Amino acid sequence: MTRAAGAAAALAVAALVGCGGNARPTPTNATCPSDSTLTYENFGAPFMEAYCTRCHSSELRGADRHGAPLYHDFDSLGGIVAVANHVDWYTAAGPDAINEIMPPDGDTPTLDERYQLGEWLACEVDQRLHPPDAGVPDAGMPDGGLVDAGVPDAAP
Ligand code: HEC
Repeated sequence: MTRAAGAAAALAVAALVGCGGNARPTPTNATCPSDSTLTYENFGAPFMEAYCTRCHSSELRGADRHGAPLYHDFDSLGGIVAVANHVDWYTAAGPDAINEIMPPDGDTPTLDERYQLGEWLACEVDQRLHPPDAGVPDAGMPDGGLVDAGVPDAAP
């Protein structure tokens, strides 16, 4: 191998080692385990505060955002959940991806924290898609007296 090629190979290895994650935003497919203990209060808020809100905050304008796009404000639960998929693709880890695009500089989350982020986002999204029964009776149409379509009642 020539010197130049050797150097290039070494650089390539360094690049691979230095950045173990995906270069492109990739869905992690993280899921919410039923015994997850992560909440906005004990995880989401401190995570964003530590790594994201110095650029992504509804209180920052113009140059103070350091280029962070509008409507990607992570100083509230609603702001995070509104773009939960983007946050997952850029920052979280899960079965299908380890995303390390964000934050671009400064303190970075540990790998563990990235996995927790994936889990927590999945839990927040799940809760919105399947809210726990609030105890409101179903709006159920009264039985119109129609004969059931012949499906036997399930045995108790
Ligand atoms: C130093 C400022 C800075 C910090 C800190 C930062 N970001 Fe960003 N973020 C940016 C900039 C600049 C962009 C736009 C460039 C890009 O998309 O790569 C961006 C883009 C994004 C996007 C993509 C928005 C889109 O268009 O879909 C997401 C999602 C994101 N950031 C999430 C985060 C999260 C989560 C954190 C904390 C872990 C974080 N960022 C920390 C500056 C920052």
